[in-house]
Amino acid sequence: MRANHWWMTGCCVALLALAASRLAAGDLPNPLRGPTALKDEPAAPPIAAIEDKDVKRGRAYTGQPPTIPHDIEKYEITHNVNMCMYCHGRVRNAEFGAPMVSATHFMDRDYDFLAEVSPRRYFCTQCHVSQEEVVAPVKNTFMDVDQILERERASARQADGKP
Ligand code: HEC
Ligand code: HEC
Repeated sequence: MRANHWWMTGCCVALLALAASRLAAGDLPNPLRGPTALKDEPAAPPIAAIEDKDVKRGRAYTGQPPTIPHDIEKYEITHNVNMCMYCHGRVRNAEFGAPMVSATHFMDRDYDFLAEVSPRRYFCTQCHVSQEEVVAPVKNTFMDVDQILERERASARQADGKP
């Protein structure tokens, strides 16, 4: 037990020393921060342009809130008005060709349906974001479940010696 304890402490000290030396060298890999030294404040990047192409994007996983394919700058969401529901609500969605919010948006936390959009879903932009013209600063290695299953099948085939 005791030996284990010392071993752990030794490891922590070594890691800290390594981190400190890299900090001093200013070479911590951080694509979000860029080359700015830790003691300096980097300039905020410009706000990205909204794509506004009216093209729905696929979803990466079950339960992903779809991204917004249009500009929303002028659509107010306040205590008195929710402009999103003007088009996406049950009454006028057909008129605007807007997809109606799904049933989950009318459920309270006991999964009972309400007549109006649920307070849990009132502030749309809490979950939905506009599509923007951006280059991801960090490479995305996300794999959806089908890709993971396919990879597993491929490695199982390989283990069996099958092509
Ligand atoms: C003037 C009507 C209108 C208003 C207001 C509006 N939308 Fe839309 N929305 C549309 C239409 C039409 C589409 C279908 C795609 C397109 O034409 O852009 C759409 C598509 C979407 C989609 C894509 C759904 C999917 O399945 O991919 C989301 C999410 C969305 N809107 C969210 C919002 C949010 C959040 C707001 C408020 C900030 C809002 N919309 C306000 C008309 C509207
Ligand atoms: C708590 C997160 C959350 C909030 C807040 C929220 N949504 Fe959603 N929304 C989702 C998720 C998750 C989905 C996809 C799964 C589903 O339908 O529940 C979705 C789906 C949608 C869709 C696509 C429906 C379909 O059947 O294709 C539209 C349109 C939409 N939301 C609009 C809105 C609008 C307008 C608001 C504000 C009144 C809003 N959402 C608020 C999470 C949210």
